[in-house]
Amino acid sequence: MARDTTIRIGINPTCGFCQTNNLNIFIIECSLKSLLTPKSPKGDFFKLLIFSSSPLWVRGKNGKDQQFEGFLYCTHYTEKQKRLIMMQQKKTAIVTGGTTGLGKAITKAFTDAGIFTIIIDLNKENLETAKAEFGDKCGYELFDLTNLKELPNLVDTLEKRYGKLNILVNNAGIHLKKFALETSDEEFQKVIQTNQNVVFALSREVAKKMIDNGGGSILNISSMAAQYGMPQVIAYTAAKTAVEGMTRALTVEWAPKGIRVNAIAPGFIYSKMSANALDNDPERKQKVFSRTPMGRMGNPEEVASAALFLVSDAASYITGVVLPVDGGNSIGF
Ligand SMILES: NC(=O)c1ccc[n+]([C@@H]2O[C@H](COP(=O)([O-])OP(=O)(O)OC[C@H]3O[C@@H](n4cnc5c(N)ncnc54)[C@H](O)[C@@H]3O)[C@@H](O)[C@H]2O)c1
Repeated sequence: MARDTTIRIGINPTCGFCQTNNLNIFIIECSLKSLLTPKSPKGDFFKLLIFSSSPLWVRGKNGKDQQFEGFLYCTHYTEKQKRLIMMQQKKTAIVTGGTTGLGKAITKAFTDAGIFTIIIDLNKENLETAKAEFGDKCGYELFDLTNLKELPNLVDTLEKRYGKLNILVNNAGIHLKKFALETSDEEFQKVIQTNQNVVFALSREVAKKMIDNGGGSILNISSMAAQYGMPQVIAYTAAKTAVEGMTRALTVEWAPKGIRVNAIAPGFIYSKMSANALDNDPERKQKVFSRTPMGRMGNPEEVASAALFLVSDAASYITGVVLPVDGGNSIGF
């Protein structure tokens, strides 16, 4: 392409699109067929709309020119416009329970990788904290996922608002530490509803959209409780075992439809809660550490990096696996 047209433009320095694409955005060439409409509606801010039938050349922050194909719309963005721009180039993920612990680390890993992440959580306060941290890199939905009947509406709304849904991480979960003889039917059902039934119903609704859109990736957060016989976690163990079974069953149904379904089984992962629990129980702490070949607990970030890999195209031939992220605990002697 001949470089006979040089157009230099000023741009909103807070433009999320330019930042995530590592661009200074001064366009140094565009095809003659392009339609260029610069307007300056608000002081420094520039409105520029380019439709190009051939690639544009854009200079990156590293000083190198790179081709940018397609549709570029930079302006003094409204929230909706920002989302539309992200939708042009980026993947969109849902992370349930993405405000704290493992879910928050997964959200951070995804947004750092440029994945627009919709956090669904029932904890309003945590959702506000996440909003302050992640800003417009995420969408935020206050919702109790155990309200299964409303899930189809929820997924419809999210797709209308944010566009194609490419990734679902079923992370939200609750724990119940109680001996089987003391666990009531109601308590058992509550854990099954959150940790198992939600995983099925939400996966089904999101998969319908993914199939219409040519595929996607689903990741379930299980637990090593699904592999062990552990005391005092009967309901949790039942639910997580079901999650691993569903991972395999959904894999064979949905692989031909372009959806990969995987799971991660985290071991003992450092969190305020788990640290407190183990610090107050030296015997249990000793047991955990002595059977973990790596001799330490994991960090939420170590689960998050495995999650990012499994949902990414780098794992394009991986489906139906349950990946332990446990420092070797599950094979420790
Ligand atoms: N932390 C660990 O060591 C560990 C180990 C193995 C597996 N896991 C699994 O990882 C996942 C995350 O664990 P965590 O330790 O980060 O837990 P956490 O309690 O810190 O976070 C769970 C999140 O899910 C949300 N949530 C719960 N029920 C919900 C519902 N009905 N609707 C919407 N949101 C809901 C909570 O508000 C919370 O934000 C869980 O599935 C858990 O079973 C954790």
